[in-house]
Amino acid sequence: MDTDFIVKHLHSPTDAQVDHMVALADRAYGQNHPSQKAMVGGDWSLHPILLRAMLRAGALEDVIYVVMNKHTEEIVTVSLWFPPGRQLFSTDDQKALGFNDFMTKISPEAKKWWSTTYVTLLRDFRRDIFSDEEGTRRWWCPWFTTDPNFQQRGFGTALITTIYNKAALHGGFLGLMTDREVNVPKYLAMGFGIRGRINADAPTGDFPVICLTREH
Ligand SMILES: CC(C)(COP(=O)(O)OP(=O)(O)OC[C@H]1O[C@@H](n2cnc3c(N)ncnc32)[C@H](O)[C@@H]1OP(=O)(O)O)[C@@H](O)C(=O)NCCC(=O)NCCS
Repeated sequence: MDTDFIVKHLHSPTDAQVDHMVALADRAYGQNHPSQKAMVGGDWSLHPILLRAMLRAGALEDVIYVVMNKHTEEIVTVSLWFPPGRQLFSTDDQKALGFNDFMTKISPEAKKWWSTTYVTLLRDFRRDIFSDEEGTRRWWCPWFTTDPNFQQRGFGTALITTIYNKAALHGGFLGLMTDREVNVPKYLAMGFGIRGRINADAPTGDFPVICLTREH
């Protein structure tokens, strides 16, 4: 990675940084990201609202990790990494920071799909492919984006290396899911392996759910 850039655990982001990270991820995910499309019920005007809710929940849990330019402090890569035992939108305090409001805005169909079908599918999938013991060592990433203008410059890899080293200190490993085949070779290049794969049916279109882990 370019030496002008550093990986940073971002504590208490400013409002301007939150705005920047939401806009960055909205561009990076784009409108062809099938799981995000399903979660907003196909209404992309809601996507920044969802991203903001995720980020504010992540800030509350202090799990935001970024790559930034050390001179300008411009953030180019954004991720959330929950340590074992903690999850996105798993507490009322997290949900109060935008998620509850977001849920009142999506269509009843999208809300039903997300809160029943998708949640159950992911829970059962994870239970099938991870042991309980692994669950106590698994660091989980629900958000990973590099600004499209800065992709393929090693920023994602540098961030993953930092988080992996942090997790491995206590015997942990990294896990995430992706819904786009194009991401698989990127994660394989970052040292991940495929743990499992299923298909998700959504009103906005089916998509694959590919789980990858980095364990060494
Ligand atoms: C996934 C993502 C975060 C990776 O970030 P990045 O900063 O571009 O990552 P890197 O530059 O470290 O690239 C990682 C590896 O993937 C490779 N790679 C990047 N794009 C690739 C592509 N389209 N096909 C194959 N390999 C690719 C890189 O060459 C690199 O491998 P190398 O070290 O062997 O050269 C970024 O592509 C992204 O934001 N994508 C859009 C949002 C998204 O889908 N996020 C993932 C959600 S699960």
